[in-house]
Amino acid sequence: MQWATLAAAALLAQNVAAQGNMLRFACSQLVVERTDPLVNPGMKFTPHLHQIVGGNSFNVTMDPAMDMAAASTCTSCTFKEDTSNYWTAVMFFHHKNGSYHRVRQVGNGGPQGKLVNKGGLDVYYIPSGKVTAFKKGFRMLAGSATNTADSKVSKGNICHRCWTSTNEDNFVGSAPCSGSDTVAIPMDPKCKMIRQTIIFPTCWDGKNLDSPDHASHVAYGQGSGATGGGACPSTHPTKLPQVMYELMWNVTEFSDKSMWPTDGSNPFVYSMNLGGAAAHGDYVFGWKDNSLQLAMDNNCNLNKDCPKAGLHAQTDAQYSACNKKQQAVEDVEGWLKELPMGDKAIKA
Ligand SMILES: *[C@@H]1O[C@H](CO)[C@@H](O)[C@H](O)[C@H]1NC(C)=O
Ligand SMILES: *[C@@H]1O[C@H](CO)[C@@H](O)[C@H](O)[C@H]1NC(C)=O
Ligand SMILES: *[C@@H]1O[C@H](CO)[C@@H](O)[C@H](O)[C@H]1NC(C)=O
Repeated sequence: MQWATLAAAALLAQNVAAQGNMLRFACSQLVVERTDPLVNPGMKFTPHLHQIVGGNSFNVTMDPAMDMAAASTCTSCTFKEDTSNYWTAVMFFHHKNGSYHRVRQVGNGGPQGKLVNKGGLDVYYIPSGKVTAFKKGFRMLAGSATNTADSKVSKGNICHRCWTSTNEDNFVGSAPCSGSDTVAIPMDPKCKMIRQTIIFPTCWDGKNLDSPDHASHVAYGQGSGATGGGACPSTHPTKLPQVMYELMWNVTEFSDKSMWPTDGSNPFVYSMNLGGAAAHGDYVFGWKDNSLQLAMDNNCNLNKDCPKAGLHAQTDAQYSACNKKQQAVEDVEGWLKELPMGDKAIKA
């Protein structure tokens, strides 16, 4: 083999799902607030803070019967037809003086091209073979917001990477959740950014749109990582597109170790005041009609228009203009005396 071919093959092997097409697109910030219509429906000031992207029909309570595409007037995600909501906990920097500062989220580069997001995350839908798209009302949770044991998390599904490049376009490492990626949040002043990856289960029981723990109606298939998922167990035989969140937390402004806690604790924590073992992602499906199924069936690729599935890609100015006012109104910007958490919960 020619060196050029070998190099190309090595690069391809590093790419996510290099064997086929997938959706990969940016979502900008919709709102940052203490709500969680999946785990704590109807509650304002939920136990911890979330950053939320997607359709602006997002609300403290989201009736699974609601037509999110009809109820949304915009979406902070690239495709106009995608009014789903995607959310995660928020990363904070803990200063040695006791104050906290939210870590900013930035866009992402990588081998498949640059994605511009204004304080949001990037979403992937990775098919593996014939997949069945989610149905209206479907929702799920990956990870556990209360877990403190790294050993209980599969590093192949939820992980962090120390991004040593100052530039998000300058790709660091290999496939998501492989190599030296860790469950814990890296604490190394050499990290300019911390990339967080959350890979959702790809196997469904075929019946339940949700379950009491928001997880047992789905299961991980064989294999791990961003491959679209392997064979499904007989309890959860229906193959779903693999949903993956990618977040770039820009920790550059906190890399001066003289600001770090003197007791040696990790200065980076999630909004539950816990580390990487408690990283989690929430997903509420809200694609218009059967557009996601059509996108998967027609091999729609990356963040481009896909006429066969009726997908329209918005410009970054368009999707970044879709925002929502906080429903649980409180300060989440700048230096905070305490993490926004605690018992201020109010039922809406
Ligand atoms: C949010 O939910 C409240 C209470 O259920 C409702 O009154 C309000 O209209 C909803 N807002 C949106 C934007 O859907
Ligand atoms: C902690 O340090 C930050 C950064 O210098 C500062 O803005 C903040 O006010 C300090 N907090 C306290 C409680 O002194
Ligand atoms: C990350 O933060 C640093 C320091 O605030 C800033 O100079 C840099 O532009 C940021 N990177 C991105 C991609 O926004």
